[in-house]
Amino acid sequence: MDRASHATTGGTAPGRGLLRFLTCGSVDDGKSTLIGRLLHDSRTIFDDQMAAVRRDSLRHGTTGDDADLALLVDGLEAEREQGITIDVAYRFFTTPARSFIVADTPGHEQYTRNMATGASNADAAVILVDARKGILTQTRRHSHVCSLLGIRSVLLAVNKMDLVDHSEAVFDRIVADFLGFAGQLGFASIMPVPISARYGDNVIHASSNMPWHRGPTVLGHLETIDVDHGRADMPLRFPVQWINRPDAGFRGAAGTVASGVVSVGDAVIVAASGQQSEISRIVTFDGDRQTARAADAVTLVLAHDIDLARGDVLSHPQARPEVANHVAANLVWMGDEPMLPGRSYLARIGTMTVPVQVSTLKHKIDVNTLDQRPGRTLRLNEIGLCNILFGQAVPIDAYAANRRMGAFIMIDRATNRTVGAGMIDFVLRRATNIHRHSHLINKQARAARNHHKPCIIWFTGLSGSGKSTIADLVERGLHAEGIHTMLLDGDNIRHGLNSDLGFTAADRVENIRRVGETAKLFVEAGIVVLCSFISPFAEERAMVRGLVSESEFVEVFIDVPIEECIRRDPKGLYAKALAGKIANFTGLDSPYEPPVAPDIRIDGLQDSENVAASRIIAYILERCAP
Ligand code: ADX
Repeated sequence: MDRASHATTGGTAPGRGLLRFLTCGSVDDGKSTLIGRLLHDSRTIFDDQMAAVRRDSLRHGTTGDDADLALLVDGLEAEREQGITIDVAYRFFTTPARSFIVADTPGHEQYTRNMATGASNADAAVILVDARKGILTQTRRHSHVCSLLGIRSVLLAVNKMDLVDHSEAVFDRIVADFLGFAGQLGFASIMPVPISARYGDNVIHASSNMPWHRGPTVLGHLETIDVDHGRADMPLRFPVQWINRPDAGFRGAAGTVASGVVSVGDAVIVAASGQQSEISRIVTFDGDRQTARAADAVTLVLAHDIDLARGDVLSHPQARPEVANHVAANLVWMGDEPMLPGRSYLARIGTMTVPVQVSTLKHKIDVNTLDQRPGRTLRLNEIGLCNILFGQAVPIDAYAANRRMGAFIMIDRATNRTVGAGMIDFVLRRATNIHRHSHLINKQARAARNHHKPCIIWFTGLSGSGKSTIADLVERGLHAEGIHTMLLDGDNIRHGLNSDLGFTAADRVENIRRVGETAKLFVEAGIVVLCSFISPFAEERAMVRGLVSESEFVEVFIDVPIEECIRRDPKGLYAKALAGKIANFTGLDSPYEPPVAPDIRIDGLQDSENVAASRIIAYILERCAP
């Protein structure tokens, strides 16, 4: 049995199962004191769970021989495997009624990402308010983020009641204030509790200082919150984690039931392929079962030998998830670098990892007011509604309907860091009704007519490095050899197709994306297309390379040091940039990432433009020979 099921069904407090909650509020509000008190006053961690945690710590943990309690939290698998440290501390405690995991997130205003990480996995939130200060901007922000992240139950802990003479009137006013705005946020339950964390009033034991409070204590309420929210009543979703094939005679799909119930004999369907089968066995560590429910880790054995792999989702045929590649989603940005529409990231969704890009940022969301703001990018801790394009169709549900099926994280390909957390709002139908046609005349036919193969010759380098001059000479040479060519050049394209783009990172990404797609069309037409663009980011050059087949992309790096480009300054742009008249100038205040392994590197200090061109022409003639 894996650790997820240990954490969830670990036998400690069978009553209500595990509750994951997060605490919101700043240190000043008494958050640490409250957590400290909960931990201290219920200090028991059962041996079997500790043993399980220790085992896993040895495999994944970062704390050496000590048990890594963060490992008790499932669902952050991705972050864990990448060893990413997001500033969230997980603490575990248990009472006779239930086990708890608290995600303790720093209270600083800007740390939406930490909150989002804690909340993405939480069933409930404890929102702390200082009785002397009442509802603050930060309280509103945290409440909004909690609601956006699908938290259904909120406990409003009005702390430091001892400093306001345990006044019922103060408490009532704060509660009324809170309900005034939180009432519209769609929480299923809001429970206000007046407390003094410092003295323990109403934390675990009812306070004699506030006899007027007839509601529960903090712990009393946390013990009763319904975590499943009917997860077992929702449609069956079983994301396949791996195919378990210990010997030739056994083949099972292992994973954790995300929602719903599955029984032996049920008809099931693979969401993406539509292949059907039947459950013949449900195998667990403790033996076979008839039925598995949400949160159970099991291996499902199917009656037929259908195609099944990690990332597939099994459901009942009459209630299938959507299978789509284009969705609208709320995205919380967690990267230090801003989000760039058009850039290719990786998405981890369910048990799948697929390429993903933000096709449009529709608007940003002001977390203080929930107002919509226009914008072209998301910075650290910002949230926006985006159109998201996955590299392939994936099985999904809307986040509001099924948090486990509707959430994904975005990973930067270069650094392997988690840079975003997405919550799917709805599927965009647009792309799904468009099908590719295969035409009678294709690329091969066109190439044959031209008597040579097509390709992209991609010139990259700093402004003033000589890219365009060399590309010009190369085109003339190829043309003379009877090659069908086309030249796309940054300065020219920016007057037409890309006249709406400037030089921010986001605009450069879009510039290269459009040029890449255009170049691909020329390749389809059987033409050798020369592209001369600074193209400063390795990521986008790799993206263009990926648009065509490996032999059809030739990267030429015109390598000239910036000092030399400044000295040459053919267009006088460096002088202007250095005088502060042009912002975001490549090599000065905007980065250039040189290719690590270009197909051809031209040493622009050594080689004359003619020598460089001859070398490239010879290479291309060989590459494009029929
Ligand atoms: S890219 O970075 O998006 O690939 P592109 O090759 O299209 O750039 O355009 C670069 C040309 O635009 C340069 O050769 C230069 O003439 C001009 N230019 C104007 N402003 C800038 C700037 N801020 N940074 C770089 N080039 C600029």
